[in-house]
Amino acid sequence: MPEAYTKIDHTYDVVVVGAGGAGLRATLELARSGLKTACITKVFPTRSHTVAAQGGISAALGNMSADDWRWHMYDTVKGSDWLGDQDAIEYMTKEAIPAIIELEHFGVPFSRTAEGKIYQRPFGGMTTEFGKGTAQRTCAAADRTGHAMLHTLYQQSLRNNAEFFIEYFALDLMMEEGECRGVVAWNLDDGTIHRFRAHRTILATGGYGRAYFSCTSAHTCTGDGGGMVARAGLPLQDMEFVQFHPTGIYGAGCLITEGARGEGGYLTNSEGERFMERYAPNAKDLASRDVVSRSMTMEINEGRGVGPQKDHIYLHLEHLDPDILHARLPGISETAKIFAGVDVTKEPIPVIPTCHYNMGGIPTNIHGEVLTLVEGGQHEVVHGLMAVGEAGCVSVHGANRLGSNSLLDLVVFGRAAGLRCAQTLSPGEPHRPLPADADERALERLDRLRHASGSTPTAQQRLTMQRVMQSHAAVFRTGDSLAEGQRKLEEVWAMKADLAVSDRSMIWNSDLVETLEFDNLTYQAAATMSAAAAREESRGAHAREDFPNRDDDNWMKHSIAWVDDAGQVTLGSRPVMLQPLTNEVQAFPPQVRSY
Ligand code: FUM
Repeated sequence: MPEAYTKIDHTYDVVVVGAGGAGLRATLELARSGLKTACITKVFPTRSHTVAAQGGISAALGNMSADDWRWHMYDTVKGSDWLGDQDAIEYMTKEAIPAIIELEHFGVPFSRTAEGKIYQRPFGGMTTEFGKGTAQRTCAAADRTGHAMLHTLYQQSLRNNAEFFIEYFALDLMMEEGECRGVVAWNLDDGTIHRFRAHRTILATGGYGRAYFSCTSAHTCTGDGGGMVARAGLPLQDMEFVQFHPTGIYGAGCLITEGARGEGGYLTNSEGERFMERYAPNAKDLASRDVVSRSMTMEINEGRGVGPQKDHIYLHLEHLDPDILHARLPGISETAKIFAGVDVTKEPIPVIPTCHYNMGGIPTNIHGEVLTLVEGGQHEVVHGLMAVGEAGCVSVHGANRLGSNSLLDLVVFGRAAGLRCAQTLSPGEPHRPLPADADERALERLDRLRHASGSTPTAQQRLTMQRVMQSHAAVFRTGDSLAEGQRKLEEVWAMKADLAVSDRSMIWNSDLVETLEFDNLTYQAAATMSAAAAREESRGAHAREDFPNRDDDNWMKHSIAWVDDAGQVTLGSRPVMLQPLTNEVQAFPPQVRSY
């Protein structure tokens, strides 16, 4: 029996876990539809990781030159290396246009053109006329777009009477016979345990970038939703696809937006060569991220990296007009100064591909409803459970996400999840009583970790896992290295029996929070390594040196991974949706990619 905690019960129509862009957009939609909504978040909403999103949010507004959502859809399908679901991609790229106008009306302070329209910049992989020209499609609020969006969405949610439970850490889902009944959370401030009963629980907990040693993600990106889902016996999807952003600051990992290359920045090697012209003669520095990250890694591996160790690359902005840098890239100019000691008006920024985004996550349909696989390879909806944003995998990004499609995913599918709840629920619908033991599993885990009295501190175990992920599930992978990674992760899982948590208190116990987060990360690390070892092809961000080609005959399918509480991974698959949602556009059949 778990320890007796002070417990408080709550009843809501919908509970949202996470207050980043997706969580807040869902919360806002729910609150304004009259559903009683709670948003639980482990950090203050405007400190969520979306605040760090820089370059912008894509939509074929056509403010700078002609554009069409079908071109955006094509780019996204191609960028996904034909692993994205075309029904979801159609939905996202079409809905992008009203979604941005709506954000503007909510009050997002976008940068403006001389005529007062929303300013849009070029971004990698975004083209016109199905690959012929360069699109200016990424709507920007200077290089602080996520910051601007997050503040606006939080203010609008408050205006619509959403209720926030801030600095509450979600421990586990309350599941009853395959249905989600809500979530158990720990109030970090006073140590109480809260059972949130809800008709729908929406996981908007972000990605699991912190499974890696060097990443652009906030320290809070620990895949808490994915961990809860795995422990509920539900699968994760496409976990082998991890995006490395070409321009993380060398040594610090901080993001330098792709918008820097969108505004005219370029990369050079130790010979001063603009090497992207060789790898991607058309798109050059604005090829999609997987291509640029691989090219940079090849330059370094072949001895043309810069710096004393020849282990990074230069990003040049010093040729750009200082007024443009000041107006459009003020944030990264400051970041480069602080974290690399570089004045971008005078010298290049040292950069290196850095773990940035998880394409995989909790599988959902376009309404944000979580899917599980049943007999015969069919999927079905998990009643009561939804997921949006980086935590989810509606599969608009497939094997590789295009820059600026993430903020878009957050708002389009956050809104879609809210709309689905409003369609399928009436405010104040009665609830069945919760089973008496609804929180038992969650509290047993809490007790076990809180009283862990082994000899290896969480920080040490986490570092071991992060180094394994960084070395074995990196930009380039081989079967041997992945098998070695699997073996090392088994050791990490075994080492969890020896965890040492020194603080047993329930109030602001960061030792325990980090331990719970580390535990969540280990599930997703295991799924990533095993799915990557199994996928014997190269597609998008998954580059296998031993299988360098894409293999549509055998591998045009989503991988599905169940991770049990011993870290054992069981793999399955489900088909990619190659048909669009409507007849307003034709399917884009697989092509060989060219840049
Ligand atoms: O480079 C960036 O500004 C990042 C954007 C994104 O990941 O979408």
